[in-house]
Amino acid sequence: MVSIMIKKLINFVKEYDSKDDREPRSKKLFGLAALYNTPNEIITAAADVAGKGYEKFDVYTPYPMHGMDDAMGMKSSKVGYVSFALGLTGMCLALLMIWWMSSVNYQNIIGGKPFFSLPPAIPITFEGTVLLTGIATVFGMLILFNQLPKINSPLNDTDFMKRVSSDKFGVVIKADDEKFSDSEVRKLFLSGGAFEIQEIYYRETNLGIKTPIFDGKFISIIFATAILTAIITYVTLNIALYDVVPFDWMWKQAKINSQSKSDFFPNKAGMREPVNGTVARGFLPYEYKGMPDSSVKLLSNPLAISRKVLERGQERFNIYCSPCHGYFGEGDGRMKDQFPKPPSLHNQKVLNWSDGNIFHVITNGQNVMPSYAEQVSVEDRWSIIHYIRTLQRSKNASDEDLTKAK
Ligand code: HEC
Repeated sequence: MVSIMIKKLINFVKEYDSKDDREPRSKKLFGLAALYNTPNEIITAAADVAGKGYEKFDVYTPYPMHGMDDAMGMKSSKVGYVSFALGLTGMCLALLMIWWMSSVNYQNIIGGKPFFSLPPAIPITFEGTVLLTGIATVFGMLILFNQLPKINSPLNDTDFMKRVSSDKFGVVIKADDEKFSDSEVRKLFLSGGAFEIQEIYYRETNLGIKTPIFDGKFISIIFATAILTAIITYVTLNIALYDVVPFDWMWKQAKINSQSKSDFFPNKAGMREPVNGTVARGFLPYEYKGMPDSSVKLLSNPLAISRKVLERGQERFNIYCSPCHGYFGEGDGRMKDQFPKPPSLHNQKVLNWSDGNIFHVITNGQNVMPSYAEQVSVEDRWSIIHYIRTLQRSKNASDEDLTKAK
């Protein structure tokens, strides 16, 4: 049973393969083909043909031969121009897309930056350029230069083709070459040592199809493939595999997510509080969070003043506070007109404050000033406070301070 099927299949393939052979040939000459015995002969023959000024000819050898391009007088491929043109188009399209999206269609102010500027657009522009260049090179080569999907050359399945793909070397000069003349070409072939000359005629079917891309059969195959692929993809992803989650063993382990309910504990809450007597390590929650100023009187600066501490405080102050408060704490920072102007840090209120009060403002925020607890570590906050005190003292230096400074 199986062997019969296999035999049938083999016969079918053989039958299909020889279909072209049995197709009637027309009276229209495709070209003259000459066969040679040795590689040296074919190189000389190719150079002769090119030297006589023929342009529509090709050489067929059983293996790639060095020096053939030169002998045939082939110029370098023009596919580069196609790549360049589409690459340039890709670059312009990508730039246009980013410019349009970020400065026309969806303007977003991010840190006061311009809507469109070149540096952040470079990666997409690069991708766009590479994408279109790649596509242009491959399709330009296949379609424009190799004339795919035209796969029914009159040379297919000819005796000539069979011999040059085993151990002979051949040249074909096409009949539509401007210089083509039957007798001249034969003379040229024989003078170069050709041992056989064949006339190749078009098949009836070759004459029918003018532009293979518009061939109905070809187009329907492309469409059928596209539709089939779409259906298969849709069915597999949206129906068959829709609720199959890959690698879900970590997701589906026995655990309780935060904020979720648990029947195991008496209070039904999945989240647990730390055990009594737990000692916090590394991170200490701010104990005056959201409380009024008066409650922080007890907070005092644990850092001793030193040159290092002051320098660190100055550095952090210049980074995190100066944009609004100004380098000297006078409320004249670079953010003016973009953010409410803060009061001077040299006002009587802040002068009278304890260090704890300033710490509270940095940690907790005050009205429009946000909390800087996320950006500035506890120790840095205290360093900044020492630095603010230094700024204040510099503005209100006493006579004693001046004598000391001398
Ligand atoms: C985004 C701008 C901005 C930044 C950055 C900023 N502040 Fe402020 N700050 C303000 C504004 C505005 C106020 C006034 C808030 C109010 O209305 O009470 C203020 C108030 C204060 C006050 C209270 C002054 C008073 O008289 O009530 C202190 C102290 C202070 N900031 C310290 C700091 C320190 C220290 C830093 C750096 C860690 C800092 N600020 C960073 C905008 C800022």
